[in-house]
Amino acid sequence: MTSQIFSIDDARRIARQRLPRLMFDFIDGAAGNERAKGRNREALEALCLMPRVLVNVDQRSLSKRFLDRQWDYPFGIAPMGMCDLAWPNTDKHLATAAAKYNIPLSLSTMASRAEKVGYSALILTVDVPQVAPRLRDLRNGFSLPFRIGPRQFWDFATHPRWSLQTLFTRVPSLANVPTVGSQEKSFNRNAGRGLVDWNFLDRIRDRWPRKLIVKGVLSPDDAKRIQTAGADAIYVSNHGGRQLASAPPPIQMLPIIREAVGAEYPLLFDSGIRSGESVVKALALGADFVMLGRPFLYGSGAAGGEGVNAVTELLANEVSVTLAQLGQTDIEEIDRSIIIES
Ligand SMILES: Cc1cc2nc3c(=O)[nH]c(=O)nc-3n(C[C@H](O)[C@H](O)[C@H](O)COP(=O)(O)O)c2cc1C
Repeated sequence: MTSQIFSIDDARRIARQRLPRLMFDFIDGAAGNERAKGRNREALEALCLMPRVLVNVDQRSLSKRFLDRQWDYPFGIAPMGMCDLAWPNTDKHLATAAAKYNIPLSLSTMASRAEKVGYSALILTVDVPQVAPRLRDLRNGFSLPFRIGPRQFWDFATHPRWSLQTLFTRVPSLANVPTVGSQEKSFNRNAGRGLVDWNFLDRIRDRWPRKLIVKGVLSPDDAKRIQTAGADAIYVSNHGGRQLASAPPPIQMLPIIREAVGAEYPLLFDSGIRSGESVVKALALGADFVMLGRPFLYGSGAAGGEGVNAVTELLANEVSVTLAQLGQTDIEEIDRSIIIES
């Protein structure tokens, strides 16, 4: 299957064929009319880059420093819950790829054990005061634990490879949420989230001694206040369009947030990145590091661990080729001058 992955869209197309619709739609879907998701990508792809010629670009470096660590590539894996729905063992495959390629992996968790387990940074996601309705999930009857009616049964039966492998591995559950799996109590994805406020951020900052990253920020005013509250980095994102259908594309807010927090403050970026060119665009407009969500799950859905590796290598190659076209040799030196301002 990996021999057919020449773009992230290829991985998505293959994943769509191989996954039960319930699972594919959970991964691929977005909030409400899904316009935020569409705009994320459109806004990135509408930006043009200026090619430069006659530069010796034979040797190129993609290595990027972020939060005191040197990574091999300027991109990493965004936090995603329930990854194993994309294909059995996806979480493991993502971790293996992160180690193999020396890229950061964020693990979605609700556990309170993070410091003991040894994570180097805590990402506090703040753009989910309430989980937004995702219409595909509602229409498909997506719920946890799974409720398998005739429609879902047909969906699983017509995708036997996913279903059998899932049965032989284990039915996906949230390892950190013990109520899931019990038939009496289903996990309430909203529980307690609306209570997260500025005081909560202060408390987390006091208690967490390592790097603290606040994820899901679009407002420059919020960004300034989070910076003042002592967060080590801000993660500019609209959750891949999965929360507010009318949210602006993060790439539009990124340069304004950069302006608000100053040149040196660490900024992460995600939402809508589907190519190496878009990775470079986000770096040019002020991101220090770029994350991707769905593309890695498309890779896993298309070809398991090999698919995750294929997506990583594809993106790395695209970033490298983009640098060459721009007459650049070092990803650390990308700046706004490569963007053609309209
Ligand atoms: C299946 C799925 C599950 C996600 N779960 C979480 C989560 O638990 N916590 C979180 O902060 N973001 C979560 N996200 C959002 C991602 O971290 C990221 O912001 C988003 O996927 C980026 O957009 P992209 O998919 O266009 O790259 C999830 C996204 C997807 C697709």
